[in-house]
Amino acid sequence: MKKIQDADISNKKVLVRVDYNVPMDGGTITDDERIKASLETINYLLSKNNSVIICSHLGRPEGRPNILFSLKPIVNELEMLIKKSVQFSDSCVGAERDRKIQNLKTGEILLLENVRFCTGEETNDPTFASDLAKGCDVYINDAFSASHREHASIVGVAKIIDSYAGFCLQKEVENLSKILIEPKRPLALVLGGAKISDKIDLLDNLIDKIDTLILGGAIANTFLLAKGLMMEKSVVEVSSVEVVKEILKNTNDRNVDVFLPEDVLVGKSVDDNIAVDKQSSLLVANEMILDIGESTIMQNSNGLQFAETIFWNGPMGYTENPIFRNGTIATAKAIISSSAFSVVGGGDTIAALPGNMKEQFGYVSMAGGASLEFLSGKTLPGVKVLE
Ligand code: 3PG
Repeated sequence: MKKIQDADISNKKVLVRVDYNVPMDGGTITDDERIKASLETINYLLSKNNSVIICSHLGRPEGRPNILFSLKPIVNELEMLIKKSVQFSDSCVGAERDRKIQNLKTGEILLLENVRFCTGEETNDPTFASDLAKGCDVYINDAFSASHREHASIVGVAKIIDSYAGFCLQKEVENLSKILIEPKRPLALVLGGAKISDKIDLLDNLIDKIDTLILGGAIANTFLLAKGLMMEKSVVEVSSVEVVKEILKNTNDRNVDVFLPEDVLVGKSVDDNIAVDKQSSLLVANEMILDIGESTIMQNSNGLQFAETIFWNGPMGYTENPIFRNGTIATAKAIISSSAFSVVGGGDTIAALPGNMKEQFGYVSMAGGASLEFLSGKTLPGVKVLE
């Protein structure tokens, strides 16, 4: 990968692709981690007398301008974090933004409106890519978390102007590579969240490297179903049951220790305010599994105790309801208190953890889908184009 620090980038107009796809509640940013993660690259470029043009996507507005997905609310947040004023362009391409870039002085920052407001972004249209690159001398990709998308602002632009990896992207690749390439064993994989289908490729790719597999969230329900347990109202993926049986066979053949919840917290609905801890084999009609239980927490903690490397993606329960958050917090505590190098990733997992806990992991990945694809052994188009 060509890296930002290996090139002499000074007195240039630099287009930086970041991932400001941040959670918002009515125009208020509820988690600014991704904005903070972009600061190192922006500050580095400013320190070298460049002017910085920032572009990003937010949400999935399907190629049309939509106020709900505007990047405008980012301006204030970024100004506050970077302690500099930030200009804004209402469109990511076109005459107005071209003029703003032309007038941009050394040390100034311009944020462009959501690239996904234009159809050419997701189709990786060459004309759109060249409009986006217009007036810029260098391109930096600092959006690892969007680099699994073959989009114009990720791939197209990188083919037109000199392109390099930013610091945030480099850290993601370096830390995720510690899981992928010769990880220190024992390696434990902790998988939760809603869908096993999203994680099958990752399991296939890592199966020969892992020693321990800990399962929680709705993913575990599909495994329990495959083992013949009644899951009643619990979320399951019936279409994945056969694949799950295959995974269980493969883990058995390779002596991987698989931890499935022996006890679980059940409720009648996700909004229930009463959680009942019971054996996962004893569900009755109208009950649904919403978290792992106390014995499972203990059992999982023991399973993690001797790990040297841990990768965790996906909450252990329905964390949106605080009474079903305990399993996820306890899993975080177990990982933190082990001596393993740990990587945690995925928006839902990170959102469920208090700030002081996040700092105690070896590395917190900003990426969801991109990190799963990377660990599945796939080449991310946005990374490949920087080679
Ligand atoms: C993410 O949040 O995972 C990235 O920003 C990618 O978003 P996307 O799935 O809408 O492409």
